[in-house]
Amino acid sequence: SSKQRVIIASNRIPLSIDKFDGKYRATPSSGGLVTALRGLSVANYLWLGWPGIEIGETEREEVDATLAKENTAAVYLSDKVAQNHYNGFSNEILWPILHYQSGVHMNFEAWTAYRQVNEVFADRIGEEAKDGDLIWVHDYHLLLLPSMLRERLKSQKKCCPIGFFLHTPFPVDDFWRGLPVQRDLLRGILGSDIIGFHTDEYMKNFIGACKILIGADVMEQSVQYDNHTVQLHKYFVGIDPQKFTEALKDQAVISRVQELESLYKGKTIIIGVDRLDYTKGLPEKFNGFQVFLDEHPEWAEEVVLIQIVIPSREDVARYKDLKEEVSRLAGQIIGKYVSFEELIALYSISDVCLISSHRDGLNLVASEYVACQEKRHGVLVLSEFTGAATFMKGGSLLINPSDARTISDMLHKAFTMGSEERKTNYEELRDLVNTHTRYITIPSGIMRK
Ligand code: G6P
Repeated sequence: SSKQRVIIASNRIPLSIDKFDGKYRATPSSGGLVTALRGLSVANYLWLGWPGIEIGETEREEVDATLAKENTAAVYLSDKVAQNHYNGFSNEILWPILHYQSGVHMNFEAWTAYRQVNEVFADRIGEEAKDGDLIWVHDYHLLLLPSMLRERLKSQKKCCPIGFFLHTPFPVDDFWRGLPVQRDLLRGILGSDIIGFHTDEYMKNFIGACKILIGADVMEQSVQYDNHTVQLHKYFVGIDPQKFTEALKDQAVISRVQELESLYKGKTIIIGVDRLDYTKGLPEKFNGFQVFLDEHPEWAEEVVLIQIVIPSREDVARYKDLKEEVSRLAGQIIGKYVSFEELIALYSISDVCLISSHRDGLNLVASEYVACQEKRHGVLVLSEFTGAATFMKGGSLLINPSDARTISDMLHKAFTMGSEERKTNYEELRDLVNTHTRYITIPSGIMRK
């Protein structure tokens, strides 16, 4: 029924808490998961997660009250455990492996913290859940949670279906096998009743791992393990295009668009919007652009590449190194959060959106760009290694980020494309974005029958 309560669990919640001038302050969080879930159209939900900072017991009441205004609640963790879980295991080990990278070093202290945090989530949700609630766990930070929860709920005699959604890729077996705790993680996720992936490829890879590594009985869309059946599904995670089209009618945005248009008068604009992450292929994007300028010097004065980078995971060494590398390549880099109004103004004045990820679970920037292109019919130049490419290949120009020549060719093709072709491509993409506006649909298979 529609009154069924949904408990959402994810590492990051829509508000992050930090301390400013000795006071706690809540700011909106960034990132694909939070963006995808923010517009959730469920009336009755509670969203649980890590607030981003250690909060002393005496201060929790205040934080709880702030978060409760947004249907959100904190799972409190000490800074040390949270850092080892979030940076040490989730970001330094799982993230690269999920994005098809090998040679990742195992860290058992971080693994202990990862398990601990999953336990804390399981305890917290176990206390919170009432019989019949639907529990919806998100992403690679909480892979062990489904089975830990399943056990607790069973001993508490509560019947709460558990859904899990993975917002990243799931790699082919070889990468996953490199992880010494791969089996524990698979068993952890398999505590779910249903698991969602972005693409068939990720789903197929997951099924392969379950079969080979833990000998599970697998079918095309389900895995049988430990006396229960786990359904698998593919979902296209959409955006709310109306939020963009409406905002483009704001007076402030209209003025900003006019300012930008006169600033870049006569220029062809390429826009890029990425978290500052090595999976996003930023150096490759700049290389490709460089090759384009070398090969088509007549365009050198005509084209401007505007790249927005959103600072991310700065406590992890690889992210710090990348920041330096990208800064050097770009000449200058200012890591700051761009307002929503500025972002959509930039999307709307750009002729091309260039996405060059090596691997990307889905990539929502592709959809956001399309939502802002009603007037211009801009061209999407998209890495074939994004989940988005499996849905959007028809209306976009695909690239391999490691192939600077193709990036150059596709940029040239985009700049010289006739208006008819741009329109046809745009309409195909727009129809996809406009018909998948429900973010992630709650898997109907686990709603109460
Ligand atoms: C990826 C993950 C998301 C996460 C986002 C931002 O898209 O799949 O779960 O929200 O990155 O990362 P952060 O580390 O800032 O939460």
